[in-house]
Amino acid sequence: MLTHMFSVDKGKPACPIWGVTPATLDAWKNDHAGRAVAWLKNNQFTGQAGQLVLIPDQTGGIEAVVLGLGSKPDPFALAALTSRLPAGNYRLGHDFPEICVRHAELAWALGSYKFTDYKTAVSDRDLPSLTITKEFDLDGLLRQVSAVFKARDLINTPAADMGPSQLHNEVASLAQKHSASFRAIIGDDLLDENFPLIHAVGRAAIDPPQYLELVWGDAAHPEICLVGKGVCFDTGGLNLKPGTYMDLMKKDMGGAAVAIALAGAILDAQLPVRLRLLVGAVENAIGPDAFRPSDILKSRKGLTVEIGNTDAEGRLVLADLLSEAESHNPDLILDFATLTGAARVALGPEVIPFYTHDEELADALHRHSKSIYDPLWQMPLWHGYDGWLSSSIADVNHISSSPMAGSITAALFLARFVPDDISWAHFDIYGWNVKARAGRPIGGEANALRAAYAMIEERYSQVE
Ligand code: BES
Ligand code: MN
Ligand code: ZN
Repeated sequence: MLTHMFSVDKGKPACPIWGVTPATLDAWKNDHAGRAVAWLKNNQFTGQAGQLVLIPDQTGGIEAVVLGLGSKPDPFALAALTSRLPAGNYRLGHDFPEICVRHAELAWALGSYKFTDYKTAVSDRDLPSLTITKEFDLDGLLRQVSAVFKARDLINTPAADMGPSQLHNEVASLAQKHSASFRAIIGDDLLDENFPLIHAVGRAAIDPPQYLELVWGDAAHPEICLVGKGVCFDTGGLNLKPGTYMDLMKKDMGGAAVAIALAGAILDAQLPVRLRLLVGAVENAIGPDAFRPSDILKSRKGLTVEIGNTDAEGRLVLADLLSEAESHNPDLILDFATLTGAARVALGPEVIPFYTHDEELADALHRHSKSIYDPLWQMPLWHGYDGWLSSSIADVNHISSSPMAGSITAALFLARFVPDDISWAHFDIYGWNVKARAGRPIGGEANALRAAYAMIEERYSQVE
């Protein structure tokens, strides 16, 4: 389906798309015929972002497409065309700003995303096709776009249809597709297998908590461990979330969605790594068996954890997963989690904070984040705040005694479960677009997926 959106240049005629800003409008007019210029004028085209004018030819066909980019062009501006252009072959004109050219194919593909699973009548239409050169790595692009769409679909699916058992099916079928090994530990078995924190968070739900594991690849290759928070719905537990705070909580498995989709991309590319994917799939529900604030739980690692607030459930799930992850001494651990509201206070919904002790890893993530426009920002694992997690009767409190720096203190809690010398990054993602932008409709979003994939691809490309 996505492949039909591209055609390799074989000299076939294709309709040009011109990208015009208010500043380049005059130059465009100078370069083009009077007829096209008059048509733009009659359509009151000024180069504002999102303006679209189709210039007709003598036969009523389309001679050219002119897209307004505004004075600060969106890198994904071309995404807006997918749903608005008639089917046919198109090519980029030569006047697009560099930032749009760099992301043109990605934007074009992202523009086709719609979550229609719950629409009873879906109108299917042929999509326009963009000309690419034969050197262009279409497989690589589609691998990443499919991963983004997969993560979005998982997030957008309501919790009633995307509970722990459905996440189980997702990981199991990914494993099956790539002949990877798969293991699930479900319900009370989590106690026998020593995943007590995952069990505690999920035990009040009808759909029982699950530890999900996929392992693939040559054991001689460096191991990457991807860890995802799969809280399929977060009511807050007994520390119930008030009203509107619960509205979006089907997306609280966004970290698992990103980890699963990223694993899918790595498997599809058959990167020379050993891959371990760990997901804690739970529903933070309320019931007679719910865990309580003030309970003290012994974690997989053996540290006793005082429960400060049952709404800080994600870090508990991750703690047990990270203990399992580090026990295999991997070359890299990445965890993804919709962990704190405080991350949004700090950076808003679009920029994703990440934490790591490994400065080389941080540099690589920043570099890829910028070049492929998947916004990330490093925040400090500021050990000066470690004391805020102290408990008078347990080894550690799982929430901070201070209302400040909530995303940092959550990361510091996780850091208790990962030895300092392991290359580990934690992403406090949002998993959601709050406003529609080109190629990024309102709804689930695969934050950090493309940047993480690009970093992994580069880091492991030399390994044989
Ligand atoms: N899933 C939430 C965090 C969240 C809320 C992410 C809204 C994105 C949007 C998490 O489980 C949570 O409730 N965290 C609490 C922690 C607090 C109780 C220490 C929070 O951030 O308020
Ligand atoms: Mn919560
Ligand atoms: Zn949560």
